[in-house]
Amino acid sequence: MLERIMKRERNTEYYLFAGKGGVGKTSVAAATALWFSKKGKKVLIISTDPAHSLSDSFDKKIGGDVKKLDKNLYAVEIDPKQAMEEYKERLAPKMEKLEFLKGLGMEDTFDYIGMTPGIDEIAAFDKFMQFMDSKEYDIIIFDTAPTGHTLRFLSLPDVLDSWVGKMIKIRMKFSGMANLVKKVLPFGSPDEQEENVGIDQLEAMKKRIESARAILSNPDKTHYNIVMIPEAMSIYESERSLEVLKQYNIPVKSVVVNQLIPDNHNCDFCKEKRKMQQERLKDIRNRFGKFKIMTLPMFREEIRGTRTLEKTSKELYGK
Ligand SMILES: Nc1ncnc2c1ncn2[C@@H]1O[C@H](COP(=O)(O)OP(=O)(O)OP(=O)(O)O)[C@@H](O)[C@H]1O
Ligand SMILES: [Mg+2]
Repeated sequence: MLERIMKRERNTEYYLFAGKGGVGKTSVAAATALWFSKKGKKVLIISTDPAHSLSDSFDKKIGGDVKKLDKNLYAVEIDPKQAMEEYKERLAPKMEKLEFLKGLGMEDTFDYIGMTPGIDEIAAFDKFMQFMDSKEYDIIIFDTAPTGHTLRFLSLPDVLDSWVGKMIKIRMKFSGMANLVKKVLPFGSPDEQEENVGIDQLEAMKKRIESARAILSNPDKTHYNIVMIPEAMSIYESERSLEVLKQYNIPVKSVVVNQLIPDNHNCDFCKEKRKMQQERLKDIRNRFGKFKIMTLPMFREEIRGTRTLEKTSKELYGK
């Protein structure tokens, strides 16, 4: 009982699933979340997919607040568009001051605020970092968007970092700019006292980015998995994303090869398709041999709801 009352410091581990559109990232992420929760781990699964496919996968309405789906299983769907709208509202009134900075030849600083890499993702990343900081869960699973977006998302700490650095310089040059700094930052409380806004806040934000970055590149904490299907396009795309992940020091744990056609002697189409897939699978084992390779058969039914998610998790992780 006392143990329950005492707040336990958890050594949270993070699971991310990346891959091309439609290969099964959400299904594998959801099945992994369910599997860990059944093993007694407290699990949170987070998605930033505006299509809310997590709700579809679990066949339960989830939404923007953390929702308990089952014993030990929690989920939240961050809406990047909505987060961006909130952010834009704070930025809008100060646009005329940006013009003033352009006059000083500092407009490149504000290209970052413009569209690189996307304010919606900055806002979503901010929310993701808040969850990363929490010590409430044993496992946090992140259902990522298709690879391109994921990689942009991973480059965010770099972009923000240089952005914050530039902001610090500006802050030191123009002490009267504190209010602008406050308005353009996605991370501060809008009610903060003007004197408290500035370097401290920027430094705090930078620390947060750095700690998120450290977690993402720590192989003991973060398990980055690539989901693919046994087809040439998916294989090449995965190789390219591996290169980029290397640049960001993100360690990859395993590769999930999804939608393998089972043996079926009565179906010519299936036989042919399976033959092609088995060739590709061989190719995958050659190219990605240093990672753990897991396979998942193509089921007759779609993966949706607890029963099929459990079936999926058993294929992936055993009993
Ligand atoms: N092994 C499988 N057997 C049967 N259906 C599958 C399998 N894997 C995925 N599916 C189905 O394929 C569809 C796409 O899967 P999922 O949503 O998991 O992909 P995704 O990679 O998350 O897609 P997106 O890139 O759009 O986020 C879903 O309807 C899912 O039920
Ligand atoms: Mg998905």
